Amino acid sequence: MFDRITLRSDLSDCHGQLLARRGAVVSTEGIREAALSARPGPTRLLAETFLADDVALPLGDHGYRYLFRSPQAQAAVARVLLAVELPDVLYDELAAVKATDPARHQHALATAAVASRMLAVAAGESRVPPQVAAAALLHDLGMRHLPARLVRGGEPLRGGEALEMAEHPFLGAWHLARVLGPHPAVDAALSHHWRNGQGYPDLPRRPTRTVEVVAVASAFAALTQSRAYRSDPFDPRGAVDLLVAEAGAERIDAYGVKLLVHALRGGQGEVRVLRFGRSRHGTEPAVNHYTPIAAPARGFL
Ligand SMILES: [Fe+2]
Ligand SMILES: [Fe+2]
Repeated sequence: MFDRITLRSDLSDCHGQLLARRGAVVSTEGIREAALSARPGPTRLLAETFLADDVALPLGDHGYRYLFRSPQAQAAVARVLLAVELPDVLYDELAAVKATDPARHQHALATAAVASRMLAVAAGESRVPPQVAAAALLHDLGMRHLPARLVRGGEPLRGGEALEMAEHPFLGAWHLARVLGPHPAVDAALSHHWRNGQGYPDLPRRPTRTVEVVAVASAFAALTQSRAYRSDPFDPRGAVDLLVAEAGAERIDAYGVKLLVHALRGGQGEVRVLRFGRSRHGTEPAVNHYTPIAAPARGFL
């Protein structure tokens, strides 16, 4: 079972505040308990922070033109993101990500925008909870706690490096549980690589549907953005081809992929009756050195 890790070093936030000591065991149960005993502090609207200007970045990205095709869709997603409320310490973490790892910052913003659009076509533009957008924004916070050589990702992962990478859901979920208490961001950080039980870590129960939406949005964003380990990003169609194949193999939530396809097609009609196309017209990168995270995980992203 990959349901716990032992910390390789002290875990601290960007201000040096200790979150857990080296040697501590971080488990799914321990994360739940940490959340229940947390004392969350005051929050601030994202609209009042440096991130307010960054919200426009994914909405204007050519790669996402089908998702955010109308000014109305763009405005609705922007409204959700600007209504996110977080404590200042987490905005400081996001500022540190922006400064040290711009690609990860773009990934966080794109995941939040894509997940918000997916939920808007499912539930209506006025019914997307900003808490879910916050969860999407923070889902990879655990990457902040990994060594820089892993996060850069230019070389194929070797030996224990894949295992080390697979620890980021625990690290992020623990960090967020300590700061936010029970919150969808804790669940999204812990569960976004679960992949119908074929990813990591092992969980006592399936993630919620909204966490699955964040997981699909993260996968789509990762495929369609530049990465050091491949020559080009997938185009949106190529990314969808891959995700549809993964859904067929039950390695990713099929409903979440349906919602994504529905959103890419404009969100008209009912997602329930949507059928995946059979033909593949998308383009893939010419060179791709992506390293699948192997045991204990079998994820593809
Ligand atoms: Fe991740
Ligand atoms: Fe991600």
